[in-house]
Amino acid sequence: MILRTLVLVAVLGIVVHSRSIQRDQNWWNHATFYQIYPRSFKDSNNDGDGDLPGIIEKLPYLVETGVNGIWLSPIMESPQVDQGYDISNYYVIDPRFGTLDDLKLLIIKAHELGLKVILDFVPNHTSDQHEWFKASENRTEGYEDYYVWRDGTSDKPPNNWLSLWTGSAWQWSEKRQQYYLHQFSKQQPDLNYRNPKVHKEMKDILKFYMDLGIDGFRIDAIPYAYEDDQFRDEPRSASPVDPNDYSYLEHNYTSNLPETYALVYEWRKFVDDYAAENDLDSKVLMTEANADLNQTMLYYGTSDGKNLGAHFTFNFLMIQNLNLNTSNAYDIIQMIYSWIDALPDIYSSNWVVCILYVGMKQRQHKQSLIMSSLFQIGNHDNRRYPTRYGAENKDGFLMLDLLLPGVAVTYNGEEFGQEDGEVKYEEGQDPTARDPAVFEQKSRDFERTPLQWDNTTNAGFNEGAKTWLPVSKKYQELNLKSQLDETKESYFQNYKALIRKRQEETARLGSTNIWALSNDALVLRRSYEGKHIAVAFKLGWKDNNEQETVLIPGVSCQNGNVAIASVGSQYKRGDNISLQSLVLQPHEAVVIDIEC
Ligand code: NOJ
Repeated sequence: MILRTLVLVAVLGIVVHSRSIQRDQNWWNHATFYQIYPRSFKDSNNDGDGDLPGIIEKLPYLVETGVNGIWLSPIMESPQVDQGYDISNYYVIDPRFGTLDDLKLLIIKAHELGLKVILDFVPNHTSDQHEWFKASENRTEGYEDYYVWRDGTSDKPPNNWLSLWTGSAWQWSEKRQQYYLHQFSKQQPDLNYRNPKVHKEMKDILKFYMDLGIDGFRIDAIPYAYEDDQFRDEPRSASPVDPNDYSYLEHNYTSNLPETYALVYEWRKFVDDYAAENDLDSKVLMTEANADLNQTMLYYGTSDGKNLGAHFTFNFLMIQNLNLNTSNAYDIIQMIYSWIDALPDIYSSNWVVCILYVGMKQRQHKQSLIMSSLFQIGNHDNRRYPTRYGAENKDGFLMLDLLLPGVAVTYNGEEFGQEDGEVKYEEGQDPTARDPAVFEQKSRDFERTPLQWDNTTNAGFNEGAKTWLPVSKKYQELNLKSQLDETKESYFQNYKALIRKRQEETARLGSTNIWALSNDALVLRRSYEGKHIAVAFKLGWKDNNEQETVLIPGVSCQNGNVAIASVGSQYKRGDNISLQSLVLQPHEAVVIDIEC
């Protein structure tokens, strides 16, 4: 940039204004994001709910972890029926969390510390308390079609569409004498994207937050933005379940419509143009699209390369398809492979081509400068990963998650091994589980309990006021503070070491090789210019309590050095170990540096 400016000045003899800062368009490409669930993160004013000043207070801690950015679950004004995923005003911060000034301060401080800030953006639905909905229900001129309204009689909905949270997706409005659509709870009416005014509203919101300095958006529930304009009944699915259950029907008319992908491409262009016009680092979009793989990939863009979509889209395979009762090492490998293989083969000039081996099969793994693969093992909608994969396997899964190629998103608490909390039905807050019969199985409250900072009152989350969800009883032993000592082994020290490892060239640019060596042991190897980072992991699933001798395939040298070892491992950092016959106990995992 500077050179070009100087050349211009010399050649044209003119004075030009130029900036010497090179904008970073690919800052997100191998980033680690940290998902903050604001209500449970840190309560600075002791009112029982976490808040923005609490997050600001913890920013230096987040820098210490080594993450590059934070994603805040919804903080906009909301009746909190669905914990902020029901927004009543997109331009106001929910008073529980603070004010717009707090957000501005958070952005400034985060940027000073080199952290990017991503906001949760909820475009599919609003709260039924939003002024738009009230105006629409009253048929106020200009707002009549902001939502999806349809005729029917009070005892017969317009069609058979189901809500993701069971029962009809239609709610009768006495006031308007029509039904409105809600794909989630009835307090979350779906916006009507066939109305251009709604597009304009959403762009205004995106611009408002980009003007404040926000670096990108996690787009909530995007598959449900559009529905069939003929309102056709959905066909019956193959699963023999309750007719009120969402899985009773196929959802071709209410999810992943072609118009929905086009909407994401429209937003991508909007944020790209904004960044270019204002000479800023790129603004990123991450889509939450829990669909089949081919549909999910369309959120990245079209295969002709003409439309760009999300920079990365969430990968739910690891979270939803694996569990310690039924999966084995081959399933994990297959899951990783299916994602990488499905990534669209477009924009080829932007690919950094890597080689991926699955078992003995060689695959080409693509890593793009304009989109990225994304792995995650937990979020606020699923049991914490130690519950799903076994608490003894905390380190092994984190090693895999953070050393796979692409972007990683870790959910708050994962960095020090926080486990699910204990919540009784009467204490529950999740609208999807307001029935004692389904509470244990469906409630998302367990993974949302307050963060366990230390062993003082309420785990250091606040100063003793009743918390919105109970603090887990495990906090006396399982808390961050007890893991801060750098001379002692702990999950947190391992997390920090893994984030540093992710930043090495081998992890950023290296080829990816994965092997299941047996039902219960696997190896991930990243390689770049004669250097390798390997993860060897013995799951110990399904009562497989035997030790196992593994090897690191495809390297010519005999030995390597332990860089990170799971808590309680027989190996320690710096140990020189054999790559040909490495003995691992159940649940043991090591990251090995290899140079040959
Ligand atoms: C996905 C969010 O992650 C979840 O928490 C929420 O309930 C639904 N979208 C509806 O907005």
